[in-house]
Amino acid sequence: MANPTSTVTEYWDRYASGVSAESDLDTAFGWTQWDGHGPGRELLGDAGSALELGCGRGVEVAALARSGVKTEGVDVSLVQVEQAREQWEPLGARFHHGDVIEFLRGTEQRWDAIYSVWGAVWFTNPHLLLPLVRERLEPGGRLVFSHAEPVPGSSGPQGMYGGGFKGRRVWLHQWAAAPGEWEELLRAAGFEHAQVWVEPAPELDHVGTLIGVAHR
Ligand SMILES: C[S@@+](CC[C@H](N)C(=O)[O-])C[C@H]1O[C@@H](n2cnc3c(N)ncnc32)[C@H](O)[C@@H]1O
Repeated sequence: MANPTSTVTEYWDRYASGVSAESDLDTAFGWTQWDGHGPGRELLGDAGSALELGCGRGVEVAALARSGVKTEGVDVSLVQVEQAREQWEPLGARFHHGDVIEFLRGTEQRWDAIYSVWGAVWFTNPHLLLPLVRERLEPGGRLVFSHAEPVPGSSGPQGMYGGGFKGRRVWLHQWAAAPGEWEELLRAAGFEHAQVWVEPAPELDHVGTLIGVAHR
């Protein structure tokens, strides 16, 4: 079947399917690709305010907001943002539509925690993104992010055709860096105590999760 994706945002709009229920929020907050595996929201510390970069359907934003953290999310997919607004704004969550770089450049606001769960940190040039994130953190605030561990031997931007090989040329870039390379990138952007590791999968030889925590 032909892949209808003809723009980057259309590629991400498709993630709006699979709507979540409020009961899903109890187990929503995790960093790995498996429910209940690996560290949880304790990585955010006792943040009173938080911003998610690439929040998608907004489940993590809603889970934090429901527990009293002033939480916002930003995502480039309008379809997902509108769906998240309708579903989760009654819980106090707030959602912005836009690219993370433009959003961060256009705000004076600061947050205790800025985080990304398999989100925009993975899909944005870290040389541009990390200094902007640091600038928008409160002193002592932290960045926390996760995504798949890199394929060995890959480093830097990894291109993908979002519309498939028979579709339009929809280019997406995913950033690949080993934990030590991420720590260097974070330190170069001015972060302190940068710690990045691969959380092993629950089964031997399965794909692990790269997790990073760094402080302003
Ligand atoms: C794999 S999804 C993860 C969504 C969500 N964090 C979750 O755990 O379900 C990646 C999300 O990042 C968003 N995204 C990718 N690049 C972005 C950018 N440059 N600015 C804002 N959002 C972006 C996509 O629209 C998508 O919703």
